[in-house]
Amino acid sequence: MYASTIAVSLAALTPLAAAVGSAVVVNKCADTVYLWSVGGSVGPEQTLASGDEWSEEFYYDSTSGGVTIKITRGSDGLYDGSAQTDFAYTLDGDTIWYDLSDVFGDPFSGHAVLQAPSDTSCPSNCWSDGVSPAGSQTLDCQADSNVTLTLCAGSC
Ligand SMILES: *[C@@H]1O[C@H](CO)[C@@H](O)[C@H](O)[C@H]1NC(C)=O
Repeated sequence: MYASTIAVSLAALTPLAAAVGSAVVVNKCADTVYLWSVGGSVGPEQTLASGDEWSEEFYYDSTSGGVTIKITRGSDGLYDGSAQTDFAYTLDGDTIWYDLSDVFGDPFSGHAVLQAPSDTSCPSNCWSDGVSPAGSQTLDCQADSNVTLTLCAGSC
């Protein structure tokens, strides 16, 4: 009796705990890349060696609203004006909005860059040559999907 009460309680909690997906960055490039998650404040520099993966659960930042994951090819790139790829997202209730853009140049020029939700029925951004198209396209998916940015994805 007691055990089954606990099982029911846990089952009721599970959907809440699983309701929000993650922003994931996968580095398939040969070289190390560096990233910062920037909301109302700038997070610590994260180092992703070739083959590494980084993620954070989507959150809504009460100061900035959206969050931008800024990626450069050099350490300290956020502070020295290096070309950066920006994975921006906004958690909006049950919806995750995401887009991909570059500033100060295209750090992954010549390599495919793919931003794709785990729910494959949602749209993706893919730059086959690593060059940002004019403007940025904001896409959306349900918030329990992950959105994964793969650097040097091979192809779109
Ligand atoms: C979403 O990303 C997290 C963190 O990397 C991972 O643990 C989880 O398995 C992923 N879920 C899906 C559906 O890809």
